[in-house]
Amino acid sequence: MKKTALHAFLISFLFFSSVAVSPAPAQVSGESVFIEGKCVRCHTIGKGRFVGPDLLGVGERYSRDDLVRWAKDPESLYVERKKKPINEGYPPMPPMNLSESDAQRVADYLLGYTPPPGLSESGTITGQVRNITTQKPQEGQDVVLVSYMGDRKEERHFAKSDSLGAFSFSSLRWDRSYEIMLFHRGVQYVSGKMVFLPGKDEITLDLPVYDTTSSDENISLRSLNLIVYPDNRGGSVNVTSLYVFENSGDTVFTGEQTGPDTTSLVFSIPEEAEDVTFSDSVNPEAAERKGEKLYSKLPFLPGMKRVALGYSLLLSQIGEKFSIGFDYEVGDLAVFVRKTELGIRVKQPKAVAEDIMIHDEAFLKYVLSDLKPGSVTVGVSNISFLKGNLDKYLPVILFFLFAVAGVVYFFYGKNRFSSMNSEK
Ligand code: HEC
Repeated sequence: MKKTALHAFLISFLFFSSVAVSPAPAQVSGESVFIEGKCVRCHTIGKGRFVGPDLLGVGERYSRDDLVRWAKDPESLYVERKKKPINEGYPPMPPMNLSESDAQRVADYLLGYTPPPGLSESGTITGQVRNITTQKPQEGQDVVLVSYMGDRKEERHFAKSDSLGAFSFSSLRWDRSYEIMLFHRGVQYVSGKMVFLPGKDEITLDLPVYDTTSSDENISLRSLNLIVYPDNRGGSVNVTSLYVFENSGDTVFTGEQTGPDTTSLVFSIPEEAEDVTFSDSVNPEAAERKGEKLYSKLPFLPGMKRVALGYSLLLSQIGEKFSIGFDYEVGDLAVFVRKTELGIRVKQPKAVAEDIMIHDEAFLKYVLSDLKPGSVTVGVSNISFLKGNLDKYLPVILFFLFAVAGVVYFFYGKNRFSSMNSEK
C-alpha cells in the first residue's frame, strides 16, 4: 500500500443513483434496464467497441429471441453454437441474470435504438468542486480523470478548477469508463466509475470536499455492540465490537500526525488479543496496533461511520476475567454473550441480563447506557483448566497415555513370556 500523507479514502459520489431515473417497476423502460442492468459497463450503442462489442445494429446479427438469450443467459448460446466466446477477440459474456420481462425489454430497446441526431463525436465530463466546510467553490483544485478499459487503467487527464470551482474534461472517448480522483488537504476523494450513457455526450457531477481538523470535538460514539462468543471447543473467546461513530462537524477528522501517518480513531484491545481484525467498511487494513491500542489511520468524513473490531482471547491466558475497553463516551452499549457451560457473565454494576435467541443460539443480552470511556468486565465462572487447554495438552496427554500403556504392556508381556518360558 502506498504511504501517502494520509491513506486513501474513498467516497462514492453516487453518480448512477443521481443520473438514472428509477421509474415504477411496472413501466421499466428498455433503456433503464440497459443502464441499471449494468450493460453500460461493457457495451456502447453506436460508440464503438468496449469490453463487449458495440451493440448498434445488433438486430441484424441476431433474432429477437437470441437477443433475449444474450441478456438473460448467454451460456445457452455458447452451448448451442459450441463456441465460447462467439466474437473473436472478446472474453465470454458473464450471465446477467435478468428476468424474462427485463430481457425482452432490453432486446426491444436494442432493436429499436437509433442514435439521437446532433450527438458530438466525443464526450465531456464537467463538474464543480465545492468546499462544504467553507460553503464556497474550491478554486485551483487539481482534478485527475482516469480512463479505464474494463479494469485496466489507460490514461490520466488533468484539470484545475476555476474561480467557480468548475472543471471540464473534453474530447473523451465513448468506449471507456472514467473515474475522478482528487487530493484535498491530504485526503483522497474518488468518484465511482462512470460511463457515457446511450445517446448522451455529457456527464456532470459535483465533488464535495472538506477542510480537515485534528481535533476530535465533533466525534462521538453513538452506539457500541459487543459480542462475546466462546468458540465451541471452549479454548478461546472471540470478541467482536461494532461501533457506530458520528462526525457531527463539517470538517474531516484526520487526527494526529504521528510521523508519516496519522492516527484518527483509537481503540483499546487487551494485550493478549490475537487474530485482530479491523474494518471500517472502506479499508480493512488501515489500522495499526501498538500494544493495547489500535489506531485507525483513515480520515473520518462528516456523517456516520461503522467500525468492526474483532479479536480472540485464549482462556488459558486470560484466566477468570477480562475486560473490553472503549475509548469514547458511549450513549448505548449492548453486550451479547453466548451461553455455554463456561458461564460467561458481564460483571458490571447495574448490568442486568436478558435471555435472547439469535439464529437459534442462546445469548445473554446486557444493556448499559451513558458510559464514560472505560471498560466492561467479563467473568468466566466455570473455567475448566483441562477443557480450556485441551487443544494444547491433548498431544501431551495422548503421548503420556501411550507411554503408560507401553510400559504396562512391556511388563505384563514380559512376565507372561517369562512365565511361559519357565513352564517349558
Ligand atoms: C462484464 C461485461 C459485460 C456485460 C456487463 C454485458 N455484456 Fe454483453 N457482451 C460482453 C462480451 C465480452 C460479449 C462478447 C461475448 C462473445 O462474443 O461471446 C458480449 C456480447 C453481447 C451481445 C452479442 C453481441 C454481438 O455482436 O455478437 C449482446 C446482444 C449483448 N452482449 C447484450 C448485453 C446486454 C443486453 C447486457 C446487459 C443485460 C450485457 N450484454 C451485459 C460483455 C458484457
